[in-house]
Amino acid sequence: MLTMSKQLLHGKLAKYYDKVYSFRDYLDEAVRIQNLIIKYLESGGNSLLDVACGTGLHLNHLKDDFLCTGVDVSKAMLKIARKNAKGVTFKEADMKTLKLGKQFDVITCLLSSIGYTKTYSNLKRTIRNFSKHLKKGGLALIEPSYVNSVYLKGEPRITIYDGKDAKIARINVTKIRRATAVLNMHILIAEKGRDIKYFIDKHELGLFGINKTLSIMKETGLKSKYLKNGLMHGRELFVGIKK
Ligand SMILES: C[S@@+](CC[C@H](N)C(=O)[O-])C[C@H]1O[C@@H](n2cnc3c(N)ncnc32)[C@H](O)[C@@H]1O
Repeated sequence: MLTMSKQLLHGKLAKYYDKVYSFRDYLDEAVRIQNLIIKYLESGGNSLLDVACGTGLHLNHLKDDFLCTGVDVSKAMLKIARKNAKGVTFKEADMKTLKLGKQFDVITCLLSSIGYTKTYSNLKRTIRNFSKHLKKGGLALIEPSYVNSVYLKGEPRITIYDGKDAKIARINVTKIRRATAVLNMHILIAEKGRDIKYFIDKHELGLFGINKTLSIMKETGLKSKYLKNGLMHGRELFVGIKK
């Protein structure tokens, strides 16, 4: 039977998130994050907030060197994050209205999560929140959604999880509607002794321009920089340092 809904992989299907993304090397990404922190951080402390932390796998590799907090809007993702990254503080929060009442040395917002703000006015509210939550000289690392990516060309994409416990295929062809990427992810899940499940998981991500994002960062009190290859080749990154 087909189920169609928005952001299923962050909600009802959250237990499959780490399987779908099992091709990622979170340890390698965490090392690259640390190298960027060494290069750009001016505040000198070690408190780190991961916004839209998902299942907490970056924080699991950062928690030995940083005092880590993770926030996400999804209860289901946070439930998994608490198991994945023991000892880290997690809170349910929407990045558009973030108000934790404390400041951090580093804020990360990774893997296109910023795109879920969708509009420039929400992007500005969110980046202003990041700025408010940073100490002077603190560092924001923001991975944008597909500014320069192959997704824009409407190419078909597939990710496969081929475990013993389950087989998962996720395919999509991204459509662009004005300044929004519309991703209808078709997900097939096969598990032992069970009927195959079929979902269409809808995601809509704001496609924000580089210069416009940089000027929002500047306006909200961040010295900003765009890296074409940030955490790794082909993944862009905005770097902001709190003035
Ligand atoms: C693609 S996942 C990325 C998760 C994690 N950063 C990673 O790299 O695996 C996007 C995450 O953004 C979260 N999210 C979406 N909108 C949000 C919002 N307004 N505030 C906070 N988190 C949000 C989702 O619940 C989901 O966990």
